[in-house]
Amino acid sequence: MVTEQLRRLSKRRGQAPVEPQPAISKADAKLLEQAHARERLETGFESFPPRTERLGQHIKTMLGKSGVKGGRILEIGGRANPYKDYFPGFEYSCLDLEISEPGVIQGDITNCPEIESGSFDAIISVDVFEHIREPWLAAPEIVRLLRPGGFTYHSTLFSWRYHPCPVDYWRYTPEALTFLFKDLRMMQAQFDTVERRRNLLGKGKHKLDGDAFGGWRENWRVFYAGVKEDPNAQRGVSALTAQQQAEADQAIIRDNPFGVPAES
Ligand SMILES: C[S@@+](CC[C@H](N)C(=O)[O-])C[C@H]1O[C@@H](n2cnc3c(N)ncnc32)[C@H](O)[C@@H]1O
Repeated sequence: MVTEQLRRLSKRRGQAPVEPQPAISKADAKLLEQAHARERLETGFESFPPRTERLGQHIKTMLGKSGVKGGRILEIGGRANPYKDYFPGFEYSCLDLEISEPGVIQGDITNCPEIESGSFDAIISVDVFEHIREPWLAAPEIVRLLRPGGFTYHSTLFSWRYHPCPVDYWRYTPEALTFLFKDLRMMQAQFDTVERRRNLLGKGKHKLDGDAFGGWRENWRVFYAGVKEDPNAQRGVSALTAQQQAEADQAIIRDNPFGVPAES
């Protein structure tokens, strides 16, 4: 019926007649749809910016929501300072166990008494918490180094291939990060599944050999953003009423671009 209508329409327009398409069985249609859904899952991450840019923008957004506008920012485990350029309004420092770039402070975030308490307005890390041997000591040190009202953000891993760099110790849930930072006011702690079905085989010494099913396709990141309460604050996030705080938290959840995908 539809084919006949298309044929008449193309005849009226002087076009070549539409040839009838062979009917596709329900089973084949389902297989095709599944193949398309798989393709969308595997390539969906490509519609996002590359990871450093995506996370850099996300840290910036959360920092903006925290109300911290400038001052000193510390990146932990930053090696080649990947996020330095995202915070031009801040004086940037980087702390790492290993020195790979000039200017990096050599130190251990689980025990750094040489750094003064309350000396940073913001402290961030990306892909570091899974490599910290005693993260339960790192979180209190981060809290100590933050000034009251200061902001912290950490993006780490829930499910990722093994990658000793220099050692691979841990995987996290949002609840675990929230527990580690229990002395802060949590702004948001969530999974980030943008690269969930990306086939991450790794490279160099971290390369995995895929099996007949392919490779590693269960990549769940996780992030935590929080603020150190400022008991003296008259303005800013700490001074919000409970109602305002609830609305702000809802807005943060609503704006989270990294939710678990509906298709899985
Ligand atoms: C996977 S690399 C981080 C990569 C980098 N942040 C990026 O996004 O490209 C992990 C880094 O954390 C550092 N690290 C591990 N434990 C640490 C600790 N206790 N204190 C400071 N840095 C640490 C390691 O030396 C390493 O440079």
